[in-house]
Amino acid sequence: MSYEHRLRRMLRALQPSRRYEAANQRTTLRHVPWMLDAIYVAPPLVRASGWALTPVPERARFLVDGRTPDQVEFPEPSMDLDEVFWALPEARRARFSLCDSRVTFDDDRFVTLEFQPFGTQTEESAASRWYVRDPRIEPPAPAGEQISRVVNDCDQSKFSIGGASVFCRFNNVLMQYGAPAGFRSYERILDWGCGAGRLTRYLLAEAEEWQEVWGAEVDPVNLNWCSAALPSGRFELMPLHPPTHLPDSYFDLIIGVSVFTHLREPVAEEWLKELKRIARPGAMLLVTVQGSAVMALAGAPGSIARNVRRNGILVTGDNTQLRIADDSEAYYVDVFHSVEYIRARWSKHFNVLGVLPGVGLHQDLVVLRNEKAAGPVCQHR
Ligand SMILES: C[S@@+](CC[C@H](N)C(=O)[O-])C[C@H]1O[C@@H](n2cnc3c(N)ncnc32)[C@H](O)[C@@H]1O
Repeated sequence: MSYEHRLRRMLRALQPSRRYEAANQRTTLRHVPWMLDAIYVAPPLVRASGWALTPVPERARFLVDGRTPDQVEFPEPSMDLDEVFWALPEARRARFSLCDSRVTFDDDRFVTLEFQPFGTQTEESAASRWYVRDPRIEPPAPAGEQISRVVNDCDQSKFSIGGASVFCRFNNVLMQYGAPAGFRSYERILDWGCGAGRLTRYLLAEAEEWQEVWGAEVDPVNLNWCSAALPSGRFELMPLHPPTHLPDSYFDLIIGVSVFTHLREPVAEEWLKELKRIARPGAMLLVTVQGSAVMALAGAPGSIARNVRRNGILVTGDNTQLRIADDSEAYYVDVFHSVEYIRARWSKHFNVLGVLPGVGLHQDLVVLRNEKAAGPVCQHR
């Protein structure tokens, strides 16, 4: 590292708001230490590339289905990352690529990719695993036009790996929270804000016959795609504000990936009440929020982190991705939440069992239970 570079880094670290950023970058790495940029799977071949951050790259391990892959190139130069993670010296050499040619999918329909920084326990690195489903049995995939309404990148393979990873990570979380068969412990599942079916595709592909999987969406374009492409699901168009015609006390499990991340506080409160109305007593809810990991990954200024910490919730601006037909009220925005806010405010509606940083891909996963549980968490008997 040049003298000028070191000096610039040091001066930046001395500014008060920059100190928040530096601390946030370190913390984030504990939960989101790596990301995939590209993945190619054609059994038995898997190729993947991305970045992985660790102070001791030489002693870190990559695993494909629990084994060291045939080839790993790591660490490679990554000057682009150095701009985002300016407080971390290791961000200058963090690119990787790997290749393995022994992936058969014989034992499981999903292959796992794992990064283990030196000194971390398997339980820690397991939470940031990525999963890919056997491409020979992939459910129908939406086109870029649908995908771009819900995520910034319209790459189909990243959309699929995101959905498969949410499915498998959430499945593990449900088991940790007392549902012995993960998703298969629940009879009636709702994917609220299902978008282009990123998660719904896998919920349906992995569901047993006795399970009902519903998708609910305010965007008719994506809802129509889901209804046509995923006929075993039941899809319902939602109004921007409740009430809905979904039945009372019906769902055992409600999931909302990146929906509260777009709702202003009063609108979110309305929907928390509505979700409570349609959840069975004892039902589980898994919803994601944008927290410190998203801030660090987006290179957000420390003033934003300070603001979220002080106020608990922060709307950072309009989100034009969805293009709602009549959006005179500027409904769809980008929102950050602090963990303290979630625990204090959302516990008026549900038991907040946990806030798991980075488990919702890079968003935080909030695990809720509809209080006054009448029976066990697992609803299927
Ligand atoms: C960022 S996208 C995420 C979509 C999907 N959950 C995923 O992970 O790909 C948020 C989705 O929530 C939908 N949405 C926003 N407000 C909603 C509401 N009140 N009820 C149902 N869906 C809503 C949007 O139309 C959009 O498709």
